[in-house]
Amino acid sequence: MKIKQAKFLGSFPNETQCPESPLPEFAFIGRSNVGKSSLINALCGRKTLAKTSATPGKTQSINLFRIDDQWQLADLPGYGYAKISKKIRNQFEQMIRSYLLNRKNLFCAFSLIDIRIPPQKMDLTMIEWMGEHAIPFYIIFTKTDKLKPRELEAQIERFKNTLLQTWEELPFMFASSSKDLTGKDEILSFIESSFK
Ligand code: GTP
Ligand code: MG
Repeated sequence: MKIKQAKFLGSFPNETQCPESPLPEFAFIGRSNVGKSSLINALCGRKTLAKTSATPGKTQSINLFRIDDQWQLADLPGYGYAKISKKIRNQFEQMIRSYLLNRKNLFCAFSLIDIRIPPQKMDLTMIEWMGEHAIPFYIIFTKTDKLKPRELEAQIERFKNTLLQTWEELPFMFASSSKDLTGKDEILSFIESSFK
């Protein structure tokens, strides 16, 4: 699937303000700076559709995009950014969780994981929480361009083994890079085939 049109619907401070839609929505969640907004741009083939930054904490609200009038993407703030106050950090977490719990047309979440670093407690907690609340999710490893193939394989194995300590079955996983577009076709085909 190639995206022809990606329309920015707006930026919303919480789920209750997001416009309702019958179209299936795919949400991108993950730690601050993991590459959510960059991946959305890569998938849409647009450099500046979603705002990105080398400094964590760029996305601060729920940004919605309508794709080819058929489905929607949600770019969410990151969790766990250490340099903001605890109060604001909690507000972001609350925003993400209430979006995931209440968004009626949420089809699934993509949980983005920076594959360069060891498994992070915050990511594992979020994955655990989605499991407990029966929120359908898949995993996307980001920034794979920064690792050599052998390192990448080892890191993915490490992450899988960590998940297997609590999960009997592993969720479906994608490896991606917004830089060299690894995983783009696979993720788009997956999205297309999942609701058609
Ligand atoms: P917040 O909005 O702050 O939660 O961050 P985010 O998850 O949306 O991250 P963003 O897309 O803004 O990217 C953060 C930084 O990582 C930017 O400097 C990007 O250029 C870089 N980045 C994102 N994806 C990739 C990737 O696949 N490869 C490389 N090398 N860098 C990436
Ligand atoms: Mg962002």
